[in-house]
Amino acid sequence: MGTILIIDRITERGAELHNVLAPSGHAVTLVHSLEEGLAKMERGACDLVLLNARLNGGQTLEVLPRILDAPCSPEAVIITETGDPEEAEIAIKKGAWDYLERSAPPEAILLSVNRALEYRTQRLQPQPFAHHGQEAFAEIIGSSPLMKASLEVAAQAAAGDAPVLISGETGTGKELFASAIHEAGSRARKNFVVVDCAALPENLVESILFGHEKGAFTGADRAREGLIKHADGGTLFLDEVGELPPAVQKSFLRVLQERRFRHLGGKTELESNFRIIAATNQDLDAMVEDGRFRQDLLFRLRAFHIELPPLRERLEDLRELAYSHLEKLCAEYRLPPKDFSPEFLDTLSRYPWPGNVRELFNALERALVAARQEAVIFPKHLPTGIRVQITKAAFDNNSPNGGRQIRTDSFSAFPKLRDRREEAIREVEEQYVQDLTALVGGDIQKGCQLSGLSRSRLYYLMKKYQKSPAADWLK
Ligand SMILES: Nc1ncnc2c1ncn2[C@@H]1O[C@H](COP(=O)(O)OP(=O)(O)OP(=O)(O)O)[C@@H](O)[C@H]1O
Ligand SMILES: [Mg+2]
Repeated sequence: MGTILIIDRITERGAELHNVLAPSGHAVTLVHSLEEGLAKMERGACDLVLLNARLNGGQTLEVLPRILDAPCSPEAVIITETGDPEEAEIAIKKGAWDYLERSAPPEAILLSVNRALEYRTQRLQPQPFAHHGQEAFAEIIGSSPLMKASLEVAAQAAAGDAPVLISGETGTGKELFASAIHEAGSRARKNFVVVDCAALPENLVESILFGHEKGAFTGADRAREGLIKHADGGTLFLDEVGELPPAVQKSFLRVLQERRFRHLGGKTELESNFRIIAATNQDLDAMVEDGRFRQDLLFRLRAFHIELPPLRERLEDLRELAYSHLEKLCAEYRLPPKDFSPEFLDTLSRYPWPGNVRELFNALERALVAARQEAVIFPKHLPTGIRVQITKAAFDNNSPNGGRQIRTDSFSAFPKLRDRREEAIREVEEQYVQDLTALVGGDIQKGCQLSGLSRSRLYYLMKKYQKSPAADWLK
């Protein structure tokens, strides 16, 4: 049961919502303007606000942060007359729990409200972290909604022992998250063992993971423990898990199920009580479909799933990332504090950062070195490659063909692999979103289920690729 505030300028509509919620035992109050609602929240506790998307001439989303930041820290559900995908995306990104059409069945509205209340109860419980938990996450920078969502799943994962799968492009912080989850959890005092599955020589994978007895194979002149045993009591971090050869996937699944394994050439079974965290920049679902990754292993690994957003999708974090890294670098290089010129940050936001935070940090370090003697860092201090690309992109965007034509008959015009890759990904994503829309019509839940995407990520892709507003999605 919760205390719910409905803010709806149309009395009858508000009353309808009241009648949906009150019979379930919620204490429901109805007011007709944002001002009234905000005043009410100042005075009394409120668990959830249900508010019309068109209040104060459509200003609802503008004041949403004020509502969410009220001392009672409520959840918010937006009710709209006509669903608008763009508005839905903004609402979710600004922290709304849900964005529902007024015509949604009463049960759907009630279900969403109940879920939001359950979530709020959980959120307000004392943090289940070990005492050092908060510090473990302090190194992770970013307060964009996408980053906050990832941090929230990571904090939940750290409180337990279930497997975690972290996916994301290169440089998005997969290893940083994995080690923070380890540090924040109860295994922090034991080993955090990193296994780079992409770098394991195929003929030695099993012996490196499981260990071997002396003489188990040619060259095994002494027994070796193996990384799984080394992670006993701690965490085994399987980096680039998509690269595990099929045979090893099978034996690994058994280890996960039984926590027991055998040394190569060993007769007795050994035990290891480790926590598993895996990371990938590949689409493991697609690999399962192609038969390249075991579905049962994927299910096991994905008890918690953290999808780290690429930097270009959370540009609002650029400033914080840049300043915090600058401070660190100045300390490392023993330089007096420096600042960025205003256009420096603007320049950073015009580059797509295919190498994500790693690439940003490298670029900042090179800029700092270039500006060593100066107090302010300007765009000209950035690596030339980055500046050239930004300048070319501005030119391309202005050219009649949008710069998409790539000449392959001269060295200078031949594209970088990452540009080609970006372009290919864009085309595939666009086609995928179109196909998915055609298949599921307006059923966003089905869309998420089929695609394996989170709601906010799906809204983001819809906005990115749907040329005309797809009201269909929100029916
Ligand atoms: N949110 C963040 N806050 C602070 N530093 C970050 C963040 N994300 C990444 N970094 C830093 O960026 C660098 C790359 O991060 P990390 O190695 O975790 O990326 P990754 O996803 O594992 O990349 P790869 O797929 O290439 O292995 C590290 O120096 C890490 O500390
Ligand atoms: Mg990594």
